[in-house]
Amino acid sequence: MGGSAALPFAPKRSLVRTQYRPPSARERTVRNAARLRAVSRSMTTIGLIGAGNIGSAIARRAVAAGYDVVLSNSRGPETLGDLVSELGPHASAATAAEAAAAGDLVVVTIPLKSIGAVPVEPLRGKTVIDTNNYYPQRDGQIAELDDETSTTSELLQAHLPESHVVKAFNNIFHVFIGTLARPAGDPERSVLAIAGDDADAKAEAAAFIGDVGFDAHDIGPLAEGWRYQRDLPAYAGLYFDDDGNARPVDAALLDDKLAQAQRYRDM
Ligand SMILES: NC(=O)c1ccc[n+]([C@@H]2O[C@H](COP(=O)([O-])OP(=O)(O)OC[C@H]3O[C@@H](n4cnc5c(N)ncnc54)[C@H](OP(=O)(O)O)[C@@H]3O)[C@@H](O)[C@H]2O)c1
Repeated sequence: MGGSAALPFAPKRSLVRTQYRPPSARERTVRNAARLRAVSRSMTTIGLIGAGNIGSAIARRAVAAGYDVVLSNSRGPETLGDLVSELGPHASAATAAEAAAAGDLVVVTIPLKSIGAVPVEPLRGKTVIDTNNYYPQRDGQIAELDDETSTTSELLQAHLPESHVVKAFNNIFHVFIGTLARPAGDPERSVLAIAGDDADAKAEAAAFIGDVGFDAHDIGPLAEGWRYQRDLPAYAGLYFDDDGNARPVDAALLDDKLAQAQRYRDM
């Protein structure tokens, strides 16, 4: 079949782009193969910029998986003593720039309004996982997000042009990062969506996500990250049931919710 010429109408570019294409079985196999184990072995330290609800939940899982973590926040390392004590000898606190420099992989998990303060230079060339969401009442109005010409993770990518941003962990309530984590192969292991523009960075993110208890589900480039942004079917409610209890999510369920994603302007 000869593409759009065979269709009764020529689809508009925007229509083509809004169709979600789930990853193929081959793509999943590549992500879940021995490569991820090798990538995982090359990473020992996770830097965290932000150590609140999500940062501390990810740090707990990272330490449990055998990583060292370097935590940071806006107030300074001396304010992170309790969390460092709780996490034990594999955790330390530093400035954001030091955490960025220390991490083989770095997680940025702060209010979106603060991403301009994320240190650029020490993150050069690194994979950066972005957990951030846009809440105008907290972050103020951001024109590119209001008119949907960009996405939260693309804003961070623009701030970090020589880093490789991968969107992940933004659509799961922080408590459930602990509750839903399962070892590889467990029938109740959940998937977490990832989006990014760099295949190696996505492999690093997937390896880390795998180590902390989830299968990464690659949904495409960073620009597709809107599909699991605030208030959409693949956002936080996906991971809990009607009673508010954690609910495991498999790839088919995530794909189904991603396919239902609508732009805010069309809602
Ligand atoms: N809560 C959830 O369940 C959840 C789930 C998914 C995604 N998210 C998203 O993930 C992000 C973090 O959420 P959260 O709930 O973890 O927030 P939070 O509990 O308010 O923690 C925010 C953390 O960011 C730090 N921070 C703020 N500005 C910073 C800066 N310039 N440099 C370094 N650290 C800075 C804060 O440090 P100080 O305390 O010292 O200011 C704090 O440690 C948000 O964008 C949120 O929308 C949250």
